[in-house]
Formats: sequence, structure tokens, C-alpha cells
Amino acid sequence: MDTGLTDKVAIVTGGASGIGLSCARALAGENARVVLADLDHESAEREALELGTDAIGASVDVTDPGSVQALVDTTVERWGTVDALVTCAGVFHATPFDEIDALEWDRVLGVNLRGTFLTTQAVLRVMLPRGQGRIVTIASLAGQAGGLAAGAAYAASKAGVVALTKSIARFAGPHGITANCVNPGVIDTPMIQAWPDDARERTIGATPLGRVGSPEEVAAMVVVLASDVASFVHGAHIDINGGLLMD
Ligand SMILES: NC(=O)c1ccc[n+]([C@@H]2O[C@H](COP(=O)([O-])OP(=O)(O)OC[C@H]3O[C@@H](n4cnc5c(N)ncnc54)[C@H](O)[C@@H]3O)[C@@H](O)[C@H]2O)c1
Repeated sequence: MDTGLTDKVAIVTGGASGIGLSCARALAGENARVVLADLDHESAEREALELGTDAIGASVDVTDPGSVQALVDTTVERWGTVDALVTCAGVFHATPFDEIDALEWDRVLGVNLRGTFLTTQAVLRVMLPRGQGRIVTIASLAGQAGGLAAGAAYAASKAGVVALTKSIARFAGPHGITANCVNPGVIDTPMIQAWPDDARERTIGATPLGRVGSPEEVAAMVVVLASDVASFVHGAHIDINGGLLMD
């Protein structure tokens, strides 16, 4: 199947680690040009070097509008445009509801929800005049289930990402740009090292496929959504959770 991704330009936020890094590798595997954008720019640059000449690492703080605009400008200066955006930058927390303070709430919502909004808005300024593009956002099963191990700010931020993606789909669809969201369940990345000790085993026990997922399994679906294969998939949210939640 031809994904049509050869020479397309993709920005992957959170591209230095976990799901974002797997997405960057999978897009590069389809011969796309990839910007691995992350707060951890040293890791992003190192991983981009591994991917070869059609990948660059870039520094971004997705909570900062100026930093996000600089990322988009750098990408356009380097490769002329942006064809796809994958928003993987995220932070996790598992603080009990009654212990979450306002600063923690704002930090989690700031990266996961505001960051998704800011990066998408900046990228759309490039995509809209061209009448084409692909936006793929990363929400979470936590947004559907209220957080099996995650705290309330994380769950609320991810439910917000689903709603935001639908709003993006309504706005950008008439301009030829698709927007879709994936809801990973428990995926084996550095992020779940922050989980409480017993939560991983409990969750595996409740998963019909009996294991956690790999970041490559999420990336495979992201590549489809970022490609020509999913040309009529729009405003969707797709579960990748081994059957842990079926709704
Ligand atoms: N791992 C899971 O089980 C799981 C499940 C559901 C959803 N997700 C979501 O998938 C996405 C990727 O998570 P992961 O598991 O790969 O985690 P990860 O910790 O491996 O990667 C997250 C990346 O985001 C970057 N980041 C954090 N704050 C940033 C900021 N302000 N600006 C730019 N980059 C920033 C980090 O430096 C890191 O490289 C996240 O949005 C996460 O919420 C993960």
C-alpha cells in the first residue's frame, strides 16, 4: 500500500522519546522528512542523526507560543512546508485528586492540552493556504475512563484533546486538512515508569490481550492517519489499548 508519504514534511512533538520517537522513525521509514521536536532537544538531535539526512532535531516548549512558532518557521525554512503534524509531547501525573494543587493542574493541562492547541494552530497557518495537511493528536484511554492510574488533570487534559481534535476537524476539514486522534492504552515507554507499582500488573490483568502495547504499535496507526491511506478518516478517535476499554 502506498502511503504517499515520500518527501512529505512531518513535525512530531515529543519526538525525542517513547511514542513520538517511534512515530518519527515510522514516518522516516515511509521516506517522509521528519522534525523531531522536543523540550529535550539534545535527545531529539541525537535521534534525528540516527535517522539520517531527512530528519532534524529541534527544540520546542509546546506551552510557549513563541517557541512553537519558531519550530514551524525552522521547518518551513528547511523544507518549505509542513504536511503533517503529530502531537506527542505530553506529561503524566498520578497525584490523588485531593492533593492536586493549581500549579500541577496548570502544568499538565498546559503541556497536554494548550500545547496541542498551540502547535496545531501554528501549523494550520502553513497548511490552510495550501489546502492540504494531516493533524494527528495523541489523547489517552485516561480521557475516556477518568484515569486508571493517571490523575485527574491528566485525564481531563486528554478528554480535552479528543474534543479539541473534533473542533480542529470541523475548522480544517473544509480546507482539505484531516484531523484525527488516537487513544493509547498502556504503552511501554518511559512515561509509564511514573505509574504506581501495582498499577501496571493490575492493568495488564484487565487487558484481554494480556500485555501492554509497544510505541511501534501506536506509531503504525499514526502513520496510517498521517498518510493518503486515511484520506476519508476525519474527526475520529481510535483506541489502541488491547481491549482494555471497549466503548
Ligand atoms: N505511554 C503510555 O502508556 C501512554 C498512554 C496514553 C497516552 N500517552 C500519550 O502519548 C504521548 C507520548 O507519551 P510517551 O509515553 O511517549 O512519553 P515520553 O515521556 O516517553 O515522551 C513524552 C515526550 O514529551 C516531551 N515533552 C514534555 N513536555 C514538553 C514540552 N513542554 N514541550 C515539548 N516536549 C515536551 C518529553 O521531553 C518527552 O520526550 C503523551 O502525550 C502521552 O500522554 C502515553
